[in-house]
Amino acid sequence: MKQKLMLAVETSCDETSAAVIANGRTILSNIISSQVPTHQKFGGVVPEIASRKHIEHVIPVIDQALVEAKTTLKDIDAIGVTYGPGLVGALLVGVATAKALAFALDKPLIGVNHLEGHIFANFLAHSELQPPFVALVVSGGHTSLIHLKDYNELVLLGQTCDDAAGEAFDKIARVMNFPYPGGPHIDKAAKRGNPAAVAFPRAFTGKEEETRFSFSFSGLKSAVLNYLNSAAQRGETVNIPDVAASFQAAVVDVLVMKAILAADYVGVKQLVLAGGVAANSSLKKELTAAAHKHGLTLFYPPPVLCTDNAAMIACRAYYQFLVNDFADLNLNAVPALKL
Ligand code: KG4
Ligand code: ZN
Repeated sequence: MKQKLMLAVETSCDETSAAVIANGRTILSNIISSQVPTHQKFGGVVPEIASRKHIEHVIPVIDQALVEAKTTLKDIDAIGVTYGPGLVGALLVGVATAKALAFALDKPLIGVNHLEGHIFANFLAHSELQPPFVALVVSGGHTSLIHLKDYNELVLLGQTCDDAAGEAFDKIARVMNFPYPGGPHIDKAAKRGNPAAVAFPRAFTGKEEETRFSFSFSGLKSAVLNYLNSAAQRGETVNIPDVAASFQAAVVDVLVMKAILAADYVGVKQLVLAGGVAANSSLKKELTAAAHKHGLTLFYPPPVLCTDNAAMIACRAYYQFLVNDFADLNLNAVPALKL
């Protein structure tokens, strides 16, 4: 039987990406054009610039994805695209491009939720992985615990009430004068620091049912910023690796504790880590140890599939394709798309 080819486009934030995958699990190409150097001088993503860069790059990136996959548009079975959550102008570039391709080629169009895409990156990295499992999605925009009962049955268990974990990493890194995005720099600095040097707060660690699977990182962010500001006012030099390690430990402790609790609560034996912060070395190490202790099998993608990419969107699109979950040409960008 001829293999099913998905072409997907991802433009929700600051990476323009296009990918072709075969039969849902095999990456034939995954082209990522990063705008990080463009946004770095502003210390964060500038939405208007991101949209303009996506317009410049989207067609060349799609062309390259087709060439690398040794295929052509006529052999593609469906076109997947991220339609939210994300920056509205950035999302619109991908959505308009995918709609134009679907219309011109008369192929099915599939609207993909970016957060679900992050989880599905694990199906590309681990051919043996099957639902059910609990997924911890930690990225620049999200911190969520999701019960994936089946490929097309996802239940949100809880999420952050304020900042996302990656957002806290990036904001603190900025005050420490690390370049954007700061998460990897904190990860690196923390390796030389003492995680017990400063006792930063851990939110929602009590037994209350309403916040059992909720997260909050804005209090932690303020505590770290206050610590740095007061030291500066007193003219004291701070030990940056110690502060980075102590902050990181406060984030990782809560993420690990809640992920294990969630797997236990829904009664699954598999835990999946996803999103940009899944590349964090301490999070992987601590979650691996905790999962082992609780008899759970942990899965996480390689770094290139943790951060934004279109292969994960193509994978999510494939499982929607199997159940005819198609979009029509009215598909629009939904910046605050829920699960
Ligand atoms: O998933 P992603 O590429 O974009 C969103 O959908 O938000 O995640 C980007 C986030 C940024 O906040 C970045 O600082 C963080 O992931 N990140 C890390 C690491 N690598 C990337 N945070 C902590 N440690 C890392 N090694
Ligand atoms: Zn993302």
